[in-house]
Amino acid sequence: MCGIVGYLGHRDPSKVIIKGLKRLEYRGYDSAGIALHSDSGLVTQKCAGKVKELEKLLSESSEAGSNLGIGHTRWATHGVPNTINAHPHSDTSGKITLVHNGIIENYGTLKKHLKENGIECQSDTDTEVLVQFIAYLYEKEKLSFSDTVRLALKEVVGAYGIAVLCKDEPDTMIAARFGSPLVLGIGENEWFIGSDTSPIIEYTRNIVFLDEGEMATITRSGFEVININENHIVAKDIEEIKYSLDEIEKSGFDFFMLKEIFEQPKSIQESMRGRIDLENHHVKLGGIQDWLQRIIDAKNIYITACGTSWHAALIGSFLLEEIIQKPVKVEYASELRYRPSAINSDTVLFSISQSGETADTLAAIKKTKELGAFTVGIVNAVGSSIARETDCGVYIHAGPEIGVASTKAFTSQVSVLSMMAILLAQRLGKDTEYIHTLIEEMVKLPTMVQSILDDAEHIEKIAGHFVDSEHFLYLGRGYQFPVALEGALKLKEISYIHAEGYPAAEMKHGPIALIDENMPVVFIVTEKGYEKIVSNIQEVKARGGRVIIVTSENAEELSQYSDHIITIPSTENALMPIITTIPLQLLAYYIAVLKGCDVDQPRNLAKSVTVE
Ligand code: G6P
Repeated sequence: MCGIVGYLGHRDPSKVIIKGLKRLEYRGYDSAGIALHSDSGLVTQKCAGKVKELEKLLSESSEAGSNLGIGHTRWATHGVPNTINAHPHSDTSGKITLVHNGIIENYGTLKKHLKENGIECQSDTDTEVLVQFIAYLYEKEKLSFSDTVRLALKEVVGAYGIAVLCKDEPDTMIAARFGSPLVLGIGENEWFIGSDTSPIIEYTRNIVFLDEGEMATITRSGFEVININENHIVAKDIEEIKYSLDEIEKSGFDFFMLKEIFEQPKSIQESMRGRIDLENHHVKLGGIQDWLQRIIDAKNIYITACGTSWHAALIGSFLLEEIIQKPVKVEYASELRYRPSAINSDTVLFSISQSGETADTLAAIKKTKELGAFTVGIVNAVGSSIARETDCGVYIHAGPEIGVASTKAFTSQVSVLSMMAILLAQRLGKDTEYIHTLIEEMVKLPTMVQSILDDAEHIEKIAGHFVDSEHFLYLGRGYQFPVALEGALKLKEISYIHAEGYPAAEMKHGPIALIDENMPVVFIVTEKGYEKIVSNIQEVKARGGRVIIVTSENAEELSQYSDHIITIPSTENALMPIITTIPLQLLAYYIAVLKGCDVDQPRNLAKSVTVE
């Protein structure tokens, strides 16, 4: 989703901002812009399209700059992606300039008010309404720049992360957040704003996370954070960000997605580091250890998430139901937040999110907390909103994930969910031989995943046969049903091929009507339910479908029914999703690349969906 970068210091701000916007490209966007505090006032350059086009525009301009500027990548909500709707937006007099993530819900009322006072907006955006409103108050109330921004924000209904400049104050930038994440980077006599830490860590690792309803005024003498509603100063901790620059660069891979697929032996390992004691067959998850009884005592358990994380949630529910034998409900966060539900103080809600910023997931957590439930986060991004909002939680430690299509975060989420189920079982006294076997098998997962990656070329060759396919079906049973959903999602996200995932036996209730020689069907075959799925394969073969089999069992026997076969290692049924997902990620990746798609930034998609 939209990205924000701001800079005040001693460097050329356009260089810092352009580089930062490139680091934020992964979030998804369709236009870009920058505003610099130059000798002639606030100068804005913006365009529809990519940051490199903005860079070209900048190289053609000869503005002498100061050391202050803000930049933005916009993912269109109000108004089409064109130059006029791109950010930064300025008021009519050019005094105030602003970039914005989120949605101003009462922009209609504010626009009407502005119109009554003779102020017309030029663009279709809610953002321009906000900047015009700030400038209107600045003129009318004669307050300082920061007091004016605060006053304006008190009137705003909706979500925002903003960075604002004022022509009268060449050494000040303001950042404020409500519902859209924003961080400050504190360097040596230089300050940064980012919608996440990726544009900043090259310069400093000292980060301040703005919380909801906070506004920072940054000047050359430092920064001050206030609570917007109450207007009191908030003391903020400076936190140190640990990940390295390498982790947010492609490091020789063609795409971040491929790098992240290949990182999985390491990321799965990281998710288990210090948490599995193999010798004593014990699991420990520091973030929830003190809350285990609260979780166990819950009368009902919910898991919520969106997208790929929702598929992990579904696997999580299977794991918990099997291992601790408690019913678990899985809900899309966008549904849970609005649907009347039976959630109360006897409920524990697990929420899963890579970014920790997904608006629907965050809103579902807030609603659930209001209803008295206890909330547990399973999050990748350290310090993110969901990590802070939940009562307790476990980081998955997958490292930064840049490719829009989630890969390594998914397998790490499933790894953490497996450990959670094991830990709860142990606390319940179910320290069985089966639990010991699960623990022993978990530590072998990185090596098993590596063996699939070593055979990636085979999958690339298979992909070559499906570049012209228009539809795909993915079928799996039990734990492999969510994997089928995830395989289908990966393919449609990055290759734009229509794909659906189904429980294999459900095929007979509809999808079988679609089977012909143009329909590739991916079957995920594991030991559990082997005979049943072999029957499903034969049903497809009998109707002329093109069969791709991913199997841990009897490859020789299955090759008679398949057009293409991918063999994978075998482990405990409950852990197989971590194995079976890998070839499906590779298949989607290679098909998309062979089709010439930009797999890291697929059209219309955003990495982190911070609006409804
Ligand atoms: C977007 C991304 C998906 C992701 C989903 C949930 O749709 O493109 O890859 O699975 O959001 O995001 P989260 O950060 O909450 O896991």
